[in-house]
Amino acid sequence: MKSVSSNKELKQKVGRRAAEFVKDGMKIGIGTGSTVAFFIEELGRRVKEEGLSIQGVTTSLGSSLLCLKYGIPLMESMHCSHLDLAVDGADEIDPYLNAIKGGGAAHTIEKIIASMADEFILIADETKLVPALCRKFPLPIEVIPASLSYVEKRIRELGGTPEIRNAVRKDGPVISENGNFILDVTFSTPPEDVELLDRQLQNIPGIVETGLFLGIAKKALIGYEDSVEILLPKG
Ligand code: 5RP
Repeated sequence: MKSVSSNKELKQKVGRRAAEFVKDGMKIGIGTGSTVAFFIEELGRRVKEEGLSIQGVTTSLGSSLLCLKYGIPLMESMHCSHLDLAVDGADEIDPYLNAIKGGGAAHTIEKIIASMADEFILIADETKLVPALCRKFPLPIEVIPASLSYVEKRIRELGGTPEIRNAVRKDGPVISENGNFILDVTFSTPPEDVELLDRQLQNIPGIVETGLFLGIAKKALIGYEDSVEILLPKG
């Protein structure tokens, strides 16, 4: 198993490499997380040193603050319906480039930003690659607080075990930037058909968004010890 520091190096390599896909004049969707932080840093360097002219739209307050720090001009997603490119991290990626996201509780906005982009690129270190989703990383689901008990019951009926995500260094639950709770759902019997699972979950009133990103990414940059590989969806 890799140490945290070597993961950090892989994330740095892949984040920097992703910034090479950004061209002058582009509108860029900017994801959330520690891998994306390196992407933002490198984009900031290109803006400053190469005069790269871009407009970013971020998926979280954390990423907005980093963009502010590195001098990346931003626009509000509310005013935006199309992006040239979006780049984001992932918690799990399968061979078809389906992914689980939401480790940073930002997956609802992340999915909106990914969906409005001509191209959505996942960036991750090799530890995020899995043969199938929902076997390792709990599936994050954003829920409206008033629906909590009902949504939990419906998730149990689907074979999942929901656990409300608690904050670190604050009492009580994580509150998403949309004012909602995050349920992290594990499955004792892993779902065979994640598309069906996603449809079933999306049909439950009170669920705002699942962390399943199915068929959205057409490319992934994966950081290995000695290289960064470009993966395309299998098949
Ligand atoms: C945030 C996310 C992140 O992109 C995901 O958790 C990966 O994060 P990291 O790059 O820190 O491993 O989905 O909601």
